[in-house]
Amino acid sequence: MNKKIIEIIQPDDWHIHLREGKILDLVKKYSSRINNRCIVMPNLRTPITTSALAKKYIHEIKFKMNNELFDPLIPCYLTENLNLEDFENGLKNGIFIGAKLYPNNTTTNSKYGVKNIDKIYPAFEILEKNNKHLLIHGEKISKELTIFDREKYFIDDELTKIINHFPHLKIVLEHVSTKYGSDFILENNNIAGTITPQHMLITKEDVFYKDIINPHNYCMPVAKNEEDLISLRKSACSGNKKFFLGTDSAPHLIEDKNNVSPKPGIFSSPCSLELYAEIFEQEKSLYNLEAFSSINGPNFYNLPINKKKIKLIKEKWIQDEYTEENGLKIKNFFGGKELNWKVLQ
Ligand code: DOR
Ligand code: ZN
Repeated sequence: MNKKIIEIIQPDDWHIHLREGKILDLVKKYSSRINNRCIVMPNLRTPITTSALAKKYIHEIKFKMNNELFDPLIPCYLTENLNLEDFENGLKNGIFIGAKLYPNNTTTNSKYGVKNIDKIYPAFEILEKNNKHLLIHGEKISKELTIFDREKYFIDDELTKIINHFPHLKIVLEHVSTKYGSDFILENNNIAGTITPQHMLITKEDVFYKDIINPHNYCMPVAKNEEDLISLRKSACSGNKKFFLGTDSAPHLIEDKNNVSPKPGIFSSPCSLELYAEIFEQEKSLYNLEAFSSINGPNFYNLPINKKKIKLIKEKWIQDEYTEENGLKIKNFFGGKELNWKVLQ
């Protein structure tokens, strides 16, 4: 019997971590196998807070990618003492695609992130004026809140204020992880969301068992309840223009994972598009995969839709447990498990 093949417009990844140096060397092939265009997150050890740092990082990525067409789009990492003139010039000159808000200490390399969001309203004003996008890690941290409540309280206490203050600002709520978040996106103007594969595949029971954490399923925002997973699947698979592909694939070395305080991040690049295809098929919505992976994102970012097409074949294969080279080792999401779709190279 002939195997099923689908063809879609070449996807983009609107949220990925490529890191730098040796880790970039190790993971780059997975993005270049699928994407020509990615939003590459600026949370390096020295975060990308100036246009000079962004230029240097873009140069490193382009130089290393085995794909001449690869176009890394970098948002400026917002801090309370950003040089606003450099920021605005960077936006105007196309060095920054927009800006990324990491609330302080919410995730990997967010210690330079924002403590008092009111203080960066001048940067939001610049974004709004220049019709550029604000990308948000939407979590609020406080002693009274568990990690499962962080997204809801960020929306109620911060995002609602931002939206009211800047009604024309285009916002992407990154890696939406709750029904509350996806409902909020549907109910408000000028806001869209990226959805990761993991938030549509695992729940908090896959992360925490009694008091034991599975570090390889641990990311921020953490996976939530069944109800949230179902709602995110529904949003992604609906084809609604407010939702698009952002893997949040975030490589960490195995020694930083198998540790008393594992770093958050799930490395899904080796099979992320295949996982999305599987989810859309399970939801009987394969016909909407292309809108989610390749159309809704560029439309929201006012960028051209790719011309090239790629194919996926329905064929069983087993994902390798690890990505490793030169003594560096990263655990792959879905490592050792069977997948049903494969990108045709
Ligand atoms: O789990 C995560 N890991 N969430 C983020 O927001 C950042 C990422 C990383 O950089 O490792
Ligand atoms: Zn991320």
